[in-house]
Parts: sequence; C-alpha cells; structure tokens
Amino acid sequence: MCGIIGYIGHRPAVPILLEGLKRLEYRGYDSAGIAYIQQGKLKVIKSEGKISILEEKVFSNDPLHTTIGLGHTRWATHGVPNEKNAHPHMDLSGNICVVHNGIIENYTKIKESLKAKGIDFRSDTDTEVLVHLISEEYSKTQDPLTSIRYCLKQVQGSYAIGVMFSDRPKELWAAKHSSPLIVGIGVGENFIGSDVPAFLPYTKDVIFLEDEEIARLTTEHVDVYSLNTGDKIKKQIKTIPWDISLAQKGGYKHFMLKEIMEQPRVIFDALAGRVNYKTKRILLNELNDLGIPDKIHIVACGTSFHAGFWGKYLFESLAKIPVEVDIASEFRYRDPLIRKDDLVVVISQSGETADTLAGLRMAKEMGSKVVGICNVVGSSVARESDKVLYTQAGPEISVASTKAMCSQMVVILLMALYFAEKKNLMEPDKHNQLIMGLKDLPNILEKELPKTREIAKELSVMYSFARSFFYLGRGLNYPLALEGALKLKEISYIHAEGYAAGEMKHGPIALIDPEFPSFVIATKDHLFDKVVSNIKEIQARKGPIICLTNPDVKVSANHIWQVPDLGGILTSFLILPALQLFAYETAVYLGKDVDQPRNLAKSVTVE
Ligand code: M6R
Repeated sequence: MCGIIGYIGHRPAVPILLEGLKRLEYRGYDSAGIAYIQQGKLKVIKSEGKISILEEKVFSNDPLHTTIGLGHTRWATHGVPNEKNAHPHMDLSGNICVVHNGIIENYTKIKESLKAKGIDFRSDTDTEVLVHLISEEYSKTQDPLTSIRYCLKQVQGSYAIGVMFSDRPKELWAAKHSSPLIVGIGVGENFIGSDVPAFLPYTKDVIFLEDEEIARLTTEHVDVYSLNTGDKIKKQIKTIPWDISLAQKGGYKHFMLKEIMEQPRVIFDALAGRVNYKTKRILLNELNDLGIPDKIHIVACGTSFHAGFWGKYLFESLAKIPVEVDIASEFRYRDPLIRKDDLVVVISQSGETADTLAGLRMAKEMGSKVVGICNVVGSSVARESDKVLYTQAGPEISVASTKAMCSQMVVILLMALYFAEKKNLMEPDKHNQLIMGLKDLPNILEKELPKTREIAKELSVMYSFARSFFYLGRGLNYPLALEGALKLKEISYIHAEGYAAGEMKHGPIALIDPEFPSFVIATKDHLFDKVVSNIKEIQARKGPIICLTNPDVKVSANHIWQVPDLGGILTSFLILPALQLFAYETAVYLGKDVDQPRNLAKSVTVE
C-alpha cells in the first residue's frame, strides 16, 4: 500500500529517491519522506501530501551531496496522514531509521512494553515499534543483522522494510514478509524498491526477496540472509523485460489515458506465442500437465474480479466447466468446497494484493492446484502459483486499472478455448472464426479507439450533471457493466452501480427519475431483446439512457453509442475501452485527479 525506494551507490542519492518516489506514487500519496546520511548524521525530511510538496521542502533544505538514502510514500493504515506519521521513522538516538510497507498486527502490545522501558513514541504508526526494537538490540550488539532479526522475530503481520544506520554509511538493509520488496542490481550501485519502476531507469537486473529474507546492500554487493537462521542465502539475479518508456506517460496527459490507448498492443502481446493461427490451436504450454479440471474457482479483487467474472461465462459456455467466482476477501474467510480435481485461478495485475494472495495460499493448503494470471513478473502470485500465465501488459501505473483487465480477458479467453479444445468441444467453424477474430482484434481496436474517445468526450460533458448512474448489462455485458460502474466511481466520484439488467425490476428501478441516468450495454446477441425490454422499463420511468450497442439494431435511447459487432465474445474488447474512456473523460471534465484518485492506492498489499 506504500512505496519504498532505497539507494546506495556513486550518484547523488536525493534526486534518485525523489524520482523513484514519483514513479511509486500510485502506491500511496497521502504523505512522503526521505532520509539520507550526511556527514555521519541521519537527516529526515517529511511532508504531508504529494511528492511534489516533499520535493519543494527537500530543495529548500538544500541537501548536500549524499550517496545513500531511503524514501517512502504512504497510504495511511495506522495514524492519520500527516507529517508526524510519515516515514522514515527514527529511533531516539537518531542513529537508525526505518521505512515500512505493511501492517504490524501486534504493535499495540510491543508499543506498551517499549513504553514501559521508557521509550517515547513520536508517531501514531505501527511502524515506529520496528525502529525502537532494532535500536534496543543494536545498542547492545552493534550488529545490524542481529538487531533486525531480533526485531522481526517479535512482530506479526506484514512488512517490507528499509533500514539505515548513520554509523554505517556504506550499508543499506532491507527485509520482507508478505509485502513486496525487490532489490535492483546496478554497476557500483544498488537499489531497493516496492516495485520495479522505482529504479527502472538504472537497472533491469533484480533479486526478488522472499518472505523472511534480509538483504544487506553496499555499492558493490548484495548479501541475503535468512531471518530464521541468520545464514547467507544464494539468490539468482533475474532480468525484467520492461523498458522505462513503458513506465512513462509518452505524451499523454494521464497514465490512465495512455494505458487505455495501449490496449491494441496489449492484446497483441497477450496473444503472442499463444495461438497457432495456421492450425488454429491454442498454445498454453504452461497448462499442459494440469489436466482438465472438474470445476474452476476464480479468486480476485476489484477489476481483476470483474475479468474473472467475465471469464466464468466463457469457461462455462465454451469449455463446459462449472465456475465459481469469488471476491478474494470473501473466499479466504468462507469455507469453500474445493475438491481434488478442481483448479483455483487467481487473477491479479500486481500479483501482490493481500486478499488474493491469502486466497491463493488457502487453496494450496487445501491441496488444490493454482494457476496465477498476473502481470508483474516475479510477484508473489507469480512465485507462489503452481503455474503462471503472464498477461504481458507492461507496467500499469494509473490507480484505475484498464489495460490489465483487457490483457486478463485475453488470457482467460485463451484458457477457455484451450480447455474446450482438450475436451473436443469446439465447433470447428466457430472456433476458427474466433481465432482469426482474435488475430485481427488489435488492428480493429486501434482504428476504433480515437472514435470511441471522441464519443466518450461528448457524452461525458452531457452527463456530468449526474450524481448517480446505473450500469446495466446481461450475459458477458454484466461483468463489464460492473467494471464500468467501478471505473466511473473511483475516478470521478460519481456514485455508480452495476446491475444485471434483469435485476432492475427487483428493486433498483425505484431510484429511476429524470435525474438518474443509466448506461445500458445492449449488444447484438441472444439477450438483446431482453435488454431492450429493460430499457423500455426505465424509459417508462423517464430515466435518461446511454445505450452502448452495435449497428443495425433497433433500439431507442437518449444517446445511442455504436461500436462494431465482432460477433459475441470479441465485442467485449470494444465495450471495455468505451466504458473506460467514458469514466476517464468524465473525471477529466470534472477536474478530478485521474491517475491518483482520493483514498485509493494501486496495490492493496494490506488486508
Ligand atoms: O493488482 P490486482 O489486480 O490484484 O488489484 C486488484 C484491485 O485492487 C484493483 O483492480 C482495483 O480495484 C483498481 N483500483 C480498479 O481500478
């Protein structure tokens, strides 16, 4: 939920920390801080609000040349977002500082016992106990590894931490448990980051820290130790395939817009190497030794959940495999019945969502095989799943997820087709048409996107008066309606609810009046007539309607928005960006902070 960057090397550390924090700002942006060692002393600068405010403060402090430092951008869990609670936190001697992402669940007990020993706390955070525990042991042993181990053995919960000691200006320390932390390996310099973009301009070589590992970084070396035994662990260096240009705005006003417009490329990359267009076969070699599951359980949160829900329709209709879809925070606390031959599919852009990871771990404990559909290479979901299907969408920076869902839908569709093939269920004509349709999809979408954006812009102005919106659809368009509503509410702060169109008359229709618009998705499919009936019911109550539909259909609405009919499933890939762009343009028109909406953070790594 928070972002950590750490640097040790030969360059001035402060600009690297500030730049890194800006690239991590999507993880939290209610307060921020940096610490560096200067002339043997720790300097800490913190501020409430965005990184730009911290930056002004840092430069007005005129930091001298320093080549080691830690930075943190916060999304508050314990303690309100203010300067006092911003990280880094220092011990009482001013020798040690800590930045932390995660939640220390037993901090109240530890805090009481530290207070009883005379330690005065300066913040309301759970994090502060960490620095005092490390300090307690360090004052006796002068040994960083022993002190960090002493501290972390006492805490419960989740953490990724960076630690600096002013009397050790040539060492940076880090550790993790259930929160992401990656070590970047440079030449004569090393980094820590919550996510790769933090240090991507400097290196693509990384070490993924596992839980209960502690790293010691110097300019030349990275040593990793086991928290439990203190022994050194041999780690592999991996190379990240991302380019820094993917983590920049590339001329667009917002990351969200850039990521929406990237979707043709995203579809192409998600398909790459996974379809043999000559034989029309699906090549998901990762799944080859899994067998055909009796049942699939899909577990995810937010937008990834909507992609999974969309997938349920496909697994059931194409592959005839029954599917249950769960919001991860529900799945982990109910008693799901998972049988031996069931498959659990977890979907996560970041691969670090705490509830999704907990669901994954629970499924494994229950003996189920887990397939992770995930964007971030080396993330916890990727590492802990039995098999991983990468979505290959590239870094998604905007808090509102867009291209990730598109890529997840491609992978899910391929999975459904793969199982259908294995079960010999595909009707050859339909199958071939779908495969060739997939091949053409990136080009079609590329052509459609500019038109779609224009219409979204016009409609967003007309409907910006709305205080509430319904998003309605049936079949495959129902999960898309849920996603449309989520996008609108999270970035424009207009209340929006997604419903199965047929549910309206069971209650929600009571809300309809001339001020309450509905965004209805009515594509040319077997459910079209039924959706038209639902539209009529709303019109009878004078509710304004935007109808997202296909050409050559008979439907009346206040505004008709047409996208080409790609024949069922593939039309979803044109509907999705229309919904995203409508939300985007509405938020822009209303002057909202599109990439960093209030109260949110990109990766929800706490429960
Ligand atoms: O990284 P994940 O896909 O696991 O994230 C899941 C949700 O937190 C995420 O989709 C969230 O709902 C987005 N803000 C939606 O735009």
